[in-house]
Amino acid sequence: MRSSCVLLAALLALAAYYVYIPLPSTVSDPWKLMLLDSTFRGAQQVSRLIHSLGLSHHLIALNFMITSFGKKSAQSSPKVKVTDTDFDGIEVRVFEGSPKADEPLRRSVIFIHGGGWALASAKISYYDDLCTTMAEELNAVIVSVEYRLVPQVYYPEPIHDIIRATKYFLQPEILDKYKVDPRRVGISGDSAGGNLAAVLGQQFTYVASLKNKLKLQALIYPFLQGLDFNTPSYQQNVNTPILPRHVMVKYWLDYLNGSYDFVEAMIVNNHTSLDVEGAAALRARLDWTSLLPSSIKKNYKPVMQTVGDARIVREIPQLLDVTASPLLAEQEVLQALPKTYILTCELDVLRDDGILYAKRLESAGVNVTLDHFEDGFHGCIIFTSWPTNFSVGIRTRNSYIKWLDQNL
Ligand SMILES: *[C@@H]1O[C@H](CO)[C@@H](O)[C@H](O)[C@H]1NC(C)=O
Ligand SMILES: *[C@@H]1O[C@H](CO)[C@@H](O)[C@H](O)[C@H]1NC(C)=O
Ligand SMILES: *[C@@H]1O[C@H](CO)[C@@H](O)[C@H](O)[C@H]1NC(C)=O
Ligand SMILES: *[C@@H]1O[C@H](CO)[C@@H](O)[C@H](O)[C@H]1NC(C)=O
Repeated sequence: MRSSCVLLAALLALAAYYVYIPLPSTVSDPWKLMLLDSTFRGAQQVSRLIHSLGLSHHLIALNFMITSFGKKSAQSSPKVKVTDTDFDGIEVRVFEGSPKADEPLRRSVIFIHGGGWALASAKISYYDDLCTTMAEELNAVIVSVEYRLVPQVYYPEPIHDIIRATKYFLQPEILDKYKVDPRRVGISGDSAGGNLAAVLGQQFTYVASLKNKLKLQALIYPFLQGLDFNTPSYQQNVNTPILPRHVMVKYWLDYLNGSYDFVEAMIVNNHTSLDVEGAAALRARLDWTSLLPSSIKKNYKPVMQTVGDARIVREIPQLLDVTASPLLAEQEVLQALPKTYILTCELDVLRDDGILYAKRLESAGVNVTLDHFEDGFHGCIIFTSWPTNFSVGIRTRNSYIKWLDQNL
């Protein structure tokens, strides 16, 4: 009896040790975030074990766990019709809100879900719920793209999938079929999906027939650059759930089909040191020491190595490509972008990617709304339902949908 009590106490202490992480007092629902984070960490550890046993790629195992808990069939409600179909070979889930009485044509958002280019799905309840709410509240047609994920494909294939589905949808006869107003179509995505949405927006500016087809872009804590992993927000949130810096660097390397051997070097910006040809010049486009206000910079110091590791860019040259790091775009490209919404969270390594893009877009003359949440953490917008309902999840979702309602 006594020994089982000791064992129980030890197990509880171990569990508490595993679950507990120091969090800033400002974060929304801290205990819930610790539980969410430890569940996610546990799933990541199990998937790495499966990987090391040679049973399956760790990302496939992890995504299997995520999708088998949360997959939802295409269920229509009286207010939203939900259909799974494909657009030019790319799977999509379409959510159709009912048209407003006085407007026969509906607004539309092409939505790209997040998940590090490797995880999640348009069909899991988190994203299904978000898109259903958008369709209902905006009386809109939401196209959630089921692009192919790492490691089935790597960069740039997910971009091709998104572009293909979007081009198909924008054809007059398809918009007509869905009763969508061609002048009121926007693009949006969160996290890695925000990266893909930003890239799509830029790519469309190069093509005369697609330029100006999108009324707006709405980017939710997007990943926009992989050249500097020491922006103030990366430094401030090195270990902040649910996206610590080393996890972000690994998703990025996976997306580019690069080796994890480079993680430690990239964390100190050895991949974009002054001796790496081409890299230093590009880093000038995301020089946060001049672009960010001092309230954000605080006392953080830039990390710019004189001598680094030129091997990384040699092996992964796409690292410096604007279609991987859209924050690198030239001014002329930014000028051609539509009205933009960027949502950022204080407790997120990607906060400054979003703020920097907002600053660059503003200087290019684009109308930008930067919507910042002091108690927000990476991923919060999808966490709105019990047991993973966060106050900041509901507030970010409402604020995002409100902006879309006023601007689309
Ligand atoms: C990904 O990288 C591995 C190892 O370097 C290589 O063998 C493979 O061909 C690459 N796959 C693609 C699709 O580039
Ligand atoms: C960064 O590069 C320098 C110079 O090559 C090297 O001495 C250092 O060990 C590297 N740091 C990491 C973490 O790889
Ligand atoms: C930006 O858009 C808002 C509406 O969302 C509008 O009120 C504002 O005047 C616009 N600003 C500029 C500079 O065009
Ligand atoms: C989460 O949902 C539960 C049950 O509906 C509710 O009691 C709680 O207040 C909610 N929490 C937040 C932060 O919304």
